[in-house]
Amino acid sequence: MTVVVRVEDEAQRAAMTAIRMAVFVDEQNVDPAREIDALDDDPTTVHVLASADDGTPLGTARLLAPHHEGDPAHIGRVAVTAAARGLGVGAALMTALEDEALARFGIVRDGVRTVAVELSAQEQALGFYERLGYVARPERYLDENIWHRDAVKIVTS
Ligand SMILES: CC(C)(COP(=O)(O)OP(=O)(O)OC[C@H]1O[C@@H](n2cnc3c(N)ncnc32)[C@H](O)[C@@H]1OP(=O)(O)O)[C@@H](O)C(=O)NCCC(=O)NCCS
Repeated sequence: MTVVVRVEDEAQRAAMTAIRMAVFVDEQNVDPAREIDALDDDPTTVHVLASADDGTPLGTARLLAPHHEGDPAHIGRVAVTAAARGLGVGAALMTALEDEALARFGIVRDGVRTVAVELSAQEQALGFYERLGYVARPERYLDENIWHRDAVKIVTS
């Protein structure tokens, strides 16, 4: 079973960093100087870590607060270790951060709590996000030499 927790101590943070370096830097050739950025230390950023029952770290992702009230929250740095892919870890990370976004930034209208979540999806991962209900904009752009498209989802309680 996969357990998803907020990153709160040094050991969890080290595990999160190790996964991101392995996935984005080693595997995808992202510049290490850009992979860890100032937003990682922003007090409004929430990081989550997925682990197996035996404590093995399996994946991580982060939630950025909206720039302004009413703007979408942003999920990024979604990474699952190569050995753990296809087992539902990525989906579990996304659900945990969508719940977090809803609780922290959601607005209640007609008894329904709602929040918009956006992300910058690598095109190779777009199918993963679309399965979870994200709708991609048509424009594509290069970031770190990888094609991306923005996608958005309205998350409700
Ligand atoms: C993309 C990634 C996070 C997906 O995580 P995962 O744990 O393998 O995904 P899950 O097992 O939770 O998959 C959930 C569903 O999405 C599907 N899926 C997973 N990756 C997919 C992909 N790249 N394209 C299309 N569908 C995908 C799965 O088949 C599954 O479908 P199902 O619900 O019908 O069974 C993972 O492959 C990864 O870390 N890749 C490298 C880093 C990366 O590209 N991150 C995204 C940056 S934008």
